[in-house]
Amino acid sequence: MKVLFIGDVVGRKARIFAQEKIVELRDQLNLDAVIVNVENAAGGFGVTPSICDDFFSCGADVLTTGNHIWDKKEIISYISKSDRLLRPLNMIKGTPGLGMTIIRVNSGIIGVANVMTNLFMTKTDPVFDKIPEIINYLKLNDNINFSLVDVHGEASSEKMAIANLLDGNVSAVVGTHTHVPTADHQILEKGTAYITDVGMSGDYNSIIGMNKNDALERFIHPNSKKTRLEVSSGEPTLSGVVIETNIDGLSKSINPLRLGGKLEQVFSK
Ligand SMILES: [Fe+2]
Ligand SMILES: [Fe+2]
Repeated sequence: MKVLFIGDVVGRKARIFAQEKIVELRDQLNLDAVIVNVENAAGGFGVTPSICDDFFSCGADVLTTGNHIWDKKEIISYISKSDRLLRPLNMIKGTPGLGMTIIRVNSGIIGVANVMTNLFMTKTDPVFDKIPEIINYLKLNDNINFSLVDVHGEASSEKMAIANLLDGNVSAVVGTHTHVPTADHQILEKGTAYITDVGMSGDYNSIIGMNKNDALERFIHPNSKKTRLEVSSGEPTLSGVVIETNIDGLSKSINPLRLGGKLEQVFSK
């Protein structure tokens, strides 16, 4: 299978660009599935039901999130009924929504999980305790053709450790949350594709997607009243990875994809 994963979409401009590109790339790259992290899609903070619906109608199959999932309260009732919008699996028991899902797409069955790491992140249950459950649920077999885990977190060490525990069991482990793409995309020893962070889809003339002056004000004058962060309004870069798997569901390639905006353009067919 050939699957596009798009990293944290930040704000309206990036969202519209990402949706246009999903339509185009599905066709151009002959994609079997598209997975998008939408935790910052609504003005940088959270996601709304109508934004999710827009992504699904453009051709996204599963949406993942992270620490910003609850920023827009209206998402609570929507996620409670959805098997395609995920929140981190290791949120406290009783949290609405799913952290893992298995769905059918045109060319087969895909499984997706979303977890949040523990270092420098808002509090969740220990992520390493969830690994056996993820392996059990997403392990590649006749019933799952492709599986991906979105590891949402700050610390690269934790993301690498999780990836190595999952190596050989899932098709891909992709990192999100830092909003900066890393250059370590690779196939791990036992066949799982990996990247520490896919990077955000947003304006890179910014501080992690937000207006530079607002963000600087926060750092320099942490007690000032003007601390509202606005999404940076420059041209967005769509930042993703394209993962291609063999018949056994393990990966043969992972290629970064960066289109538009300020970053160097990266695209391989
Ligand atoms: Fe994010
Ligand atoms: Fe995040």
